[in-house]
Amino acid sequence: MKCLAWLDGTVCNLSEATVPLEDRSYLFGDGVYEVIKIYNKKPFFLKSHLKRLQNSAEAIEIKIPHSIEDIERSIFDLIEKSACVEGYLYMQISRGSAKRDHLLPQGTKSSMVMYVRELSSPGSLEEIQPADCITYPDERWFNCYIKSVNLLPNVIARHKADEKGAVEAIFYRPGGIVTEGTRTNVFAVIDGIVRTHPESRLILSGITRMIALEILDTMDIKFSEEAFNLEELKNASEVWTTSTGMEILPVARIDGQPVSDQVPGPVCHELIKRFWRKVEETCYDGGKR
Ligand code: PDD
Repeated sequence: MKCLAWLDGTVCNLSEATVPLEDRSYLFGDGVYEVIKIYNKKPFFLKSHLKRLQNSAEAIEIKIPHSIEDIERSIFDLIEKSACVEGYLYMQISRGSAKRDHLLPQGTKSSMVMYVRELSSPGSLEEIQPADCITYPDERWFNCYIKSVNLLPNVIARHKADEKGAVEAIFYRPGGIVTEGTRTNVFAVIDGIVRTHPESRLILSGITRMIALEILDTMDIKFSEEAFNLEELKNASEVWTTSTGMEILPVARIDGQPVSDQVPGPVCHELIKRFWRKVEETCYDGGKR
């Protein structure tokens, strides 16, 4: 495939794409973004991602510079031109380019960029590498529902996880309340009930989280959008994360302690199978991936 970028309607090679030095998303992190998985050349749950993009932009008073219909058309066109079969599409909206000033600029036009890159997902349960996670204080702001490009606390926490040989850091707020991962939502099976932090300002309302909850609703298991604490997390019989890039990822160890002897556990195992079925129904006309 070709890695192509789209800059407000102009398509070029990703390696040649540039943004102005005074772009506010570069200077201030003054922008919002989305990451959309592509399966079989189709953007998965595109409408839900675009709705969240609109909510994020509205929350920080950025006007999206193109109509949603034009953005949808451009996404399909970019995927087609890139010949991307399985990958992801990254999109970012910046408040625009203006002389550096903390004050929001008047009359500056916002800008939008997108690009496509290859990313394959595991094709079978055997290919899934259960994750090692650490726990880490959630030092982010209180508007985590906005998918803002300000990701420094997430980046640092991810680095701390990597230093310990782990792939994800699970955030907790003072008092030990578990919120989410640096780039994932977190689920745990506690006393036979699947729990995940409720939608609030403390988490990003993940699209994969939403799909997982819809699937859980069709399964013979109780679930509840109720926060849990570190002790409950560490004593859970199953833990997994959800995200666009890593789908449903079972967690094997937290801070070096095994979650359970069976990874993925039975609930996570069934959820992964049903998630893949959903991908096949949505992007492969029900056929096999
Ligand atoms: N991250 N929580 C946070 C903080 C995230 O950044 C993400 C996504 C999620 C999961 O959301 P979704 O299921 O819609 O991908 C939860 C993206 C993939 C990223 O920053 O790369």
